Amino acid sequence: MTGLDHWRTLEAKQQPQWPDAALLEQSTRQLADVPPLVFAGEADRLRDHLAAAGRGEAFLLQGGDCAETFAELTADSTRDKIKTILQMAVVLTYGASMPVIKMGRMAGQYAKPRSKDTETRDGVTLPAYRGDIINDYAFTEASRIPDPRRLLDAYHNSATTLNLIRAFTSGGFADLRLVHEWNRGFMANPAYAQYDAFAAEIDRAIRFMMAAGADFEALRTVEFFSSHEGLLLDYERPLTRIDSRTGMPYDCSAHFLWIGERTRELDGAHVDFFSRVHNPIGVKLGPDATVDQARGLIDRLNPDGEPGRLTFISRMGAQKIRDRLPALVEGVQEDGRPVTWVCDPMHGNGFTSENGYKTRRFADVIEEVRGFFDVHRSLGTVPGGLHVELTGSDVTEVLGGSEEVDLQALTQRYETRVDPRLNHQQSLEMAFLVAEMLRGS
Ligand code: PEP
Ligand code: CO
Repeated sequence: MTGLDHWRTLEAKQQPQWPDAALLEQSTRQLADVPPLVFAGEADRLRDHLAAAGRGEAFLLQGGDCAETFAELTADSTRDKIKTILQMAVVLTYGASMPVIKMGRMAGQYAKPRSKDTETRDGVTLPAYRGDIINDYAFTEASRIPDPRRLLDAYHNSATTLNLIRAFTSGGFADLRLVHEWNRGFMANPAYAQYDAFAAEIDRAIRFMMAAGADFEALRTVEFFSSHEGLLLDYERPLTRIDSRTGMPYDCSAHFLWIGERTRELDGAHVDFFSRVHNPIGVKLGPDATVDQARGLIDRLNPDGEPGRLTFISRMGAQKIRDRLPALVEGVQEDGRPVTWVCDPMHGNGFTSENGYKTRRFADVIEEVRGFFDVHRSLGTVPGGLHVELTGSDVTEVLGGSEEVDLQALTQRYETRVDPRLNHQQSLEMAFLVAEMLRGS
């Protein structure tokens, strides 16, 4: 067994029980032969960008669905997500006076960790839905059986999504002038009057660029990176390829992979596998993460202290971040090897509403980001980016925002299969609020 298969000897949490070993073998063999979705050189560029974010010379915006679904893969939904991220990025770029690294939780975000292996509805208990790459959401016995043919469906859907991403971001859709016009449309809504002054500044800045003869043709394309949770090892392993330039393995399913809060054990399969590929890697750190764990992760994932290789994505909850994050950041500072710190203000702030919806409050999300900035400012360390669950449409899944989603609204367009996402407007409002925090530096 080569090192890339050593994880098979370790405990791998959150993996499905495939009922048909022969079918799994057939699917993983096919996956091992398909073309890579991304190239090693692109992942290397991203690592350089993330290194800059770790130094305070760039800012990461990573956003997209909690769980992508095969059914929702349409040109419109992909375009609207990209559009939302690009609109947010313009606002953040202005606030930060720094380049914003744009990254989707897209083109592969199909596998989900679950807190329970089963789901019970009206007295019927079935295996939990684990994401479209594993089983189907419909609540029937047949749908919930893990089906390895879905690995190939996920690959093809990811390829389609990436093709759209590459077309949208290089075909004129990302033109700064166009993105700015969309933001003007958003600002026309009186609900956002509190951001008028800030929006007017951005508008003046862009008019200044035009007057000064800035090369807008060069600003018609943007780099856009793909990412997902590196959860399902039967998918990640066969898509790992040896880079012809360097002889090093890269997981070519996405540019950036992160290890989730539930699978980050130092001696577990996920940390072992991702320690052997050369992509930039993230790890989620929840409120119970310890300094020893964080340092252990650096030892395993970035022993040589390569800038940009390792990103810690904290997800503490608005109530805990000011209490829990400082010790972790200080412990990592003392270690000395560089880490890029990113804030996920979503996963520590979930609760079930009184009318039964799994939701989050926009105010808590913003408060966690504020805590993240405050902690880093007080320690003299760098807040390097934002990791958010969002969608480009007008769903009603997260409570609050100036165009308020209330308890009654949750019953209208609650469409997520797993976690609640910021809608298009809440996402843009967040960008204005975070831009103000960035400017406060
Ligand atoms: C997620 O990002 O959707 C997720 C499950 O996050 P975490 O591992 O932080 O719980
Ligand atoms: Co989620």
